[in-house]
Amino acid sequence: MSAQILDGKAIAAELRESIRQEVDRQVAAGNSRPGLAVILVGEDPASQVYVRNKKIACEKAGFNDVSEVLPAETTQEEVLALIDKLNADPEVHGIIVQLPVPDHIDPEEIIERIDPCKDVDGFHPYNVGRMATRMPIMAPCTPHGVMTMLSKTGIGLRGLDAVVVGASNIVGVPQLLELLNERATVTICHSATKNLPEKVAQADLVVVGVGIPEMVKGEWIKPGAIVIDVGINRLEDGRLVGDVEFEVAKERASWITPVPGGVGPMTIATLLENTMKAAYKLDC
Ligand code: GUN
Repeated sequence: MSAQILDGKAIAAELRESIRQEVDRQVAAGNSRPGLAVILVGEDPASQVYVRNKKIACEKAGFNDVSEVLPAETTQEEVLALIDKLNADPEVHGIIVQLPVPDHIDPEEIIERIDPCKDVDGFHPYNVGRMATRMPIMAPCTPHGVMTMLSKTGIGLRGLDAVVVGASNIVGVPQLLELLNERATVTICHSATKNLPEKVAQADLVVVGVGIPEMVKGEWIKPGAIVIDVGINRLEDGRLVGDVEFEVAKERASWITPVPGGVGPMTIATLLENTMKAAYKLDC
C-alpha cells in the first residue's frame, strides 16, 4: 500500500488565500496592512533563501515587508537597538530574527527583547510558557503548521501514540506541546535516546525534525502510521531530501509529507497567520 500524500503546498496556498482575503477586508474597514520585520544578520545562504521566500509570501498576502538585512559584524547592542525600534513602531506587528545568528550574537537575549505580542515565531519564553500551560497565543510556525495540515486533512490526534524525533526549540519541543494539547501520547527522542528504531516503530504518528538526510529509515515505520518530515536537506548531487527515507516509508505509512512541498510551505503560511493575528489583535 502506498501512502496518501499530505499536500502542504496546496493546504498552505489555501491558508495564504484566506489570509489575503482577511487583509483585504481589514484594509477596506480602515485598518493598516500587517507589517512583518524579518531580521537577518549575516549571509548564511540557507537563511537568505528562507528570508527571500518570506518576503515574497508577505508581498503576495498584501503585508508590508519591513525586513532588515544586517552585516555579519553587527553587534548584539545594535540588534537589540533595532528590536527596541521595531517594538515601538505601531506599523510593525511581527518581528522575527532568522536563526542561526553569527556566533558573537546571543539569540536568547535577542528573542527575549522582542515584545511577546510581536513575537510571531512564538520563541519568547512568555509564549513558550503560554503553550506549555495550554493557553497558547503565538505558536511556533513549523509545528503549528504541522497541526494545521493534520487538522485540515481530518486526521484526529486524540489518543494516538506520537513520537517526535528531534528536541529543538524551533520544532521538537513545541511540537511535543502542540500534540500533547491535542491529547496525543507523546514521546520525544533526541541524540541521547536509546533504541530509536524501536521507539519510532511504535508510533501512530512520527514527526521528524533533525536536519540529517534520511536519518529515519523507512523500515522503522509502523504500517499505517502518519509520517511528518520537517527536514529539508540538499545532497551533494543537488537533490533535496527530508529526514525520513521517503521512498521506503511511503510504502508503509498511511499518510506522508513529501519534501519539498510538505511542511515547508506550511511554515511560511503560519508565519503570515501569526502576523495577521498580531496585527488585528485576534488573540494577543
Ligand atoms: N531558522 C529555521 N527555522 C526558523 C524559524 O522558524 N524561525 C526563525 N526565526 N529562524 C529559523
